[in-house]
Amino acid sequence: MKIFLDTANLDELKKAVAWGIVDGVTTNPSLIAKEGIAIEEQVARICDIIDGDISAEVVSTEAKEMIIEGHKLAKIHKNIVVKLPLTRDGIEACSEFAKEGVRTNVTLCFSPAQALLAAKAGAYIVSPFVGRLDDIAQLGMELIESICTIYGNYGYTTQVLAASLRSPLHVAQAAEIGADIGTMPFKTLDMMFNHPLTDKGLEIFLKDYAKAFADKK
Ligand code: E4P
Repeated sequence: MKIFLDTANLDELKKAVAWGIVDGVTTNPSLIAKEGIAIEEQVARICDIIDGDISAEVVSTEAKEMIIEGHKLAKIHKNIVVKLPLTRDGIEACSEFAKEGVRTNVTLCFSPAQALLAAKAGAYIVSPFVGRLDDIAQLGMELIESICTIYGNYGYTTQVLAASLRSPLHVAQAAEIGADIGTMPFKTLDMMFNHPLTDKGLEIFLKDYAKAFADKK
């Protein structure tokens, strides 16, 4: 499973990229707003840090406007994937971009039926949100499972990006189901390293080694 970072923060991104395990980045209007820098500028900076798919989301709500905005975003860098909301207009824009060969990420997907529409429209990526479904007491991971089954049944090539992953358990479950990509905030990625037995084991190794060689220095 590819690991994407869900952030527009350059410091977080640089830290994670140094680990050598980040394949791409997703941003959304809220994440861009948090950084307080225009999307064109911030996304260009992200593209300088990492060579992988970078999703940049439109804020227009009508298909025609989305297409104009999407073209502008796609021009920023060859790695930009135009992110569109899963609305009627978003799907219309997605179909147009598919004809033109512009790669899209259809976001805010909360049902298998919506995911089917994204695949039919030729989306490059679909983003079902796991955590936000969990928040309303629905099992978000079941959505990932359904979409993978539906896409597998018909051979749709749209990549399933498990989004809104809030814990290492979410990440592991998405990988077990076979999601193509998992996107997560830095906090979730960082938590994936943690295991008390790793810390304890390392402490014992270092103590044993230091004790054995302490008087031989
Ligand atoms: C995906 O592309 C979204 O930006 C993201 O995963 C949303 O996550 P959240 O529900 O934690 O805001």
